[in-house]
Amino acid sequence: MKVEAQEISLSIGGKKVLNRESICCLPGKMSALVGPSGCGKTTLLNCLGLLLPVDEGSIFIDGNNVTKFNAASRRKFWRDYAAFILQDYGIMDEETVAFNVTMESSVFGRIKGNRERLTQVLKQTGLQGREEELAGHLSGGEKQRLALARAIYKDAKILFVDEPTASLDVDNRKMVIDLFTEFASRGRTVIVSTHDQEMIEACDVLHEVGKNNAIIKQVSINNSV
Ligand SMILES: Nc1ncnc2c1ncn2[C@@H]1O[C@H](COP(=O)(O)OP(=O)(O)OP(=O)(O)O)[C@@H](O)[C@H]1O
Ligand SMILES: [Mg+2]
Repeated sequence: MKVEAQEISLSIGGKKVLNRESICCLPGKMSALVGPSGCGKTTLLNCLGLLLPVDEGSIFIDGNNVTKFNAASRRKFWRDYAAFILQDYGIMDEETVAFNVTMESSVFGRIKGNRERLTQVLKQTGLQGREEELAGHLSGGEKQRLALARAIYKDAKILFVDEPTASLDVDNRKMVIDLFTEFASRGRTVIVSTHDQEMIEACDVLHEVGKNNAIIKQVSINNSV
C-alpha cells in the first residue's frame, strides 16, 4: 500500500515540529526517515500511521485521503493493514509472548492462534521457546523483536518502525534488517525512522525530515528507485 503525506504540518506545545513535510512511501520499498535527533522523524512516522493528527496537509493511503478518518476507521486501518514496531509501545507486559504475537487469548493456559506460524515467527526473531513467558520480563531489544514477530505473524501490509536496531547487538541487528528487507521484497511497505547506518543502507529510499520545506527529498540509493 502506498502511504503519502502532502505538506503536513504539526505543532506540539507551540513548537512547529513538522513544517509542510511531504513524503511518498511505496509498496515493496523500505523508506528511511533520517535526520538529526529532534528533527521530527518519530512524529512524522506517527502521523503517517494515523497515531497523531496533523494540523495542516493531508495523508493518503493508496490514494485515499485518510486525514480525517474517525476513530473507528483508524482502528480498522490499524487492525487490518498496519503493524507498529515502536519503542515502548504496543507490548502488553502482563500477557505472554504468545498472546502478544497472536493477539488471541489463551483458554485455560492453552495457546490459541496458528501454533505452527507462532513457532516459526518466534524462531525468525530469535525468541524460540519463549511462548509462555510474560512479555514484561523481556529486555528492550527482545520486546522490539516481539513486536516484529507480531508484524510477521499478522503479515501486515504496512510496517511503521521506529529505531528498530537501537538496542540490538550486531547479530540481532543483521537479523532484524534482513527480516525487514524480506518483508519489503514481498510487496509490503516498510517505513523506518533510524540513525543506524546499516539500516539506512538497506533502505531503498531516504527521506530527510525537516529539510527543504514542502520539497519531497528522496535520495535514491541501492539504485532501486
Ligand atoms: N509529546 C510531545 N510534547 C512536546 N514536544 C514534543 C512531543 N513530541 C515531540 N516533541 C518535540 O518534537 C521534536 C521532534 O521530536 P521527534 O521525537 O519526532 O524527533 P526525532 O527526529 O524522532 O528524534 P530522535 O532521533 O531523537 O528520536 C522534538 O523537539 C520534541 O521535543
Ligand atoms: Mg525518534
